[in-house]
Amino acid sequence: MSLLSLMANPRDGDADRGLSLEARLDQAQEKLLQYARDLDTTRGLLSQRETELARVQRQLSLYAERLEVSRRATAQRSCELESVHLDTVRRLMQAAKFRDCETGVHLRRISRLCGEAARYLAWPEEEALLVQEASALHDIGKIGISDSILGKEGPLNDDEWQMMKTHTVIGAQLLENSASPLLQCAREIALCHHERWDGSGYPYGLVGDAIPPRARLVMLCDQYDALRSVRPYKPAYDHATACTILLEGDGKTRPQHFDPAFLDLFSNIHTIFETAWDELMLDDSETVAGLLYA
Ligand SMILES: [Fe+2]
Ligand SMILES: [Fe+2]
Repeated sequence: MSLLSLMANPRDGDADRGLSLEARLDQAQEKLLQYARDLDTTRGLLSQRETELARVQRQLSLYAERLEVSRRATAQRSCELESVHLDTVRRLMQAAKFRDCETGVHLRRISRLCGEAARYLAWPEEEALLVQEASALHDIGKIGISDSILGKEGPLNDDEWQMMKTHTVIGAQLLENSASPLLQCAREIALCHHERWDGSGYPYGLVGDAIPPRARLVMLCDQYDALRSVRPYKPAYDHATACTILLEGDGKTRPQHFDPAFLDLFSNIHTIFETAWDELMLDDSETVAGLLYA
């Protein structure tokens, strides 16, 4: 309110009537001084709040910086930890190779085929990588199978076959209780890579969706690789024959053994399998004569 309006329209109404102009001026001046003091107080409070706000902002920036440093350190630690786990997987692969459980080239092919298939199934890259690395340990449990069974030339008898089947459970025991997602994934695959969609697999005879998808995928890739490879009981089949056996069956292998969605994917991308397999052709130097694959 302006000084003139205060003079022209005294706010106290009748009470102000009769006051002299000088008294009204004094009154108005006093009110103006009061406004100025209030304004100063408000300005002081605002400035105090601004200072406080700036302090809080600085504190928040500091917290954000510390959080970022801690996030980077955690990422670094988890990266180092995963690389340690990867190193463990590779050392176990070496152990399997020394023990003549698998040839190195077979493990590389399974790894490659699983990675390719997982990507065509549009699994997230992280998951595809996990399966790619972990699938190399699918038969690690064969470390626990006796030489007389593992290296036997010719068919296994019933008792030997039952022993051979335990490589799934032995593999799972070897890999259990790890905090590493990589080793947990490897355990799941080692345990279930011989389960079949129709329930005719082992060790538990799981049916359909009860079988972990990663194990279903490894099972398909392992079967394709087995068909393409020489075994004591069979020759190596060419790609076309392997496809016919997987997709139509041959009495021993049946399409009902496989997840229909994965088999469908295989029928669409089988040339990818062929290319990947051909690129990692069996290296004679790594072939172990007389190996039996379960
Ligand atoms: Fe196996
Ligand atoms: Fe295998």
